[in-house]
Amino acid sequence: MMRPTPLQRLRAIRATPKALLVQLLAVVVSLMVYRFTLVLVGAPLPVLAWVLLQAVVAAGLARLLHSDRWWFWIHLGFGPGALAASLLHIPALWYLALFVVLAVVYGSHFRSQVPLFLSNDRTAQTLLGLIPDNEPMRFLDFGSGLGGVVRAVAVKRPLIDCEGVEGALGPAMLARLLALGRRNCTLRWGDFWKTDLAPYDMVYAFLSPVPMPAVWDKACREMREGALLVSNSFVIPGVKPIRTVQVDDRRSTRLYVYRIPPLPKKFSTQ
Ligand SMILES: C[S@@+](CC[C@H](N)C(=O)[O-])C[C@H]1O[C@@H](n2cnc3c(N)ncnc32)[C@H](O)[C@@H]1O
Repeated sequence: MMRPTPLQRLRAIRATPKALLVQLLAVVVSLMVYRFTLVLVGAPLPVLAWVLLQAVVAAGLARLLHSDRWWFWIHLGFGPGALAASLLHIPALWYLALFVVLAVVYGSHFRSQVPLFLSNDRTAQTLLGLIPDNEPMRFLDFGSGLGGVVRAVAVKRPLIDCEGVEGALGPAMLARLLALGRRNCTLRWGDFWKTDLAPYDMVYAFLSPVPMPAVWDKACREMREGALLVSNSFVIPGVKPIRTVQVDDRRSTRLYVYRIPPLPKKFSTQ
């Protein structure tokens, strides 16, 4: 097998460290240009020109390293934005406060690459159509956000144990508050990768394309044969859903329903 080139290795880095690397490389390149013009012309580059140069280099590097499209614009705006903010003389505490708020709301999103956005009510109602009316079972929302889906299922299906696990502290706490007093509803703060899926008959996931192969792997290892994994919007590459349900909403949401297959022989315990 051919060994990857240094450029291929850089391209394979995950989004957040890659963004940091791009910013640092752009600072180094623009500092070199700064030094070069100082030596050559005898005058330093104006700050604005330096910042713009850094931004253009960063955006170009993001393209070169195959970062997702939106990173181009983030890198292009970051330096000029930071310069503009520094001219406003905003007290440093505000930045700290903003950082804390973002950390509480978004938690470890940068690791899981799953942001917080919520299933709408129509999606929750369509999901209910996939859940039997009068059979006791266990339902889990894998990354439950504010717990809206868990509450919707718990209200309409009183026989079902409805659970949710959410990794970001702020939404997890709010979800618990909103579910107070509801008997068949458990919402907890935790990492879904550390949650055993064996007890659940149906797992609902509204995540992003990035973790779907790993989610399927985990579901197949832990869930019983015949249990269901329902993914909102994101398919599992290379796996055929047993059903695709179209939701009648503005974003034309699709629910992909996957049935857990029998364990392959090498995993089988018998
Ligand atoms: C797109 S939101 C979906 C929220 C909710 N399921 C819904 O449909 O309204 C995905 C959620 O997964 C959470 N999440 C991401 N990584 C996680 C992890 N490792 N453990 C638990 N939750 C996680 C995010 O914080 C986010 O709230």
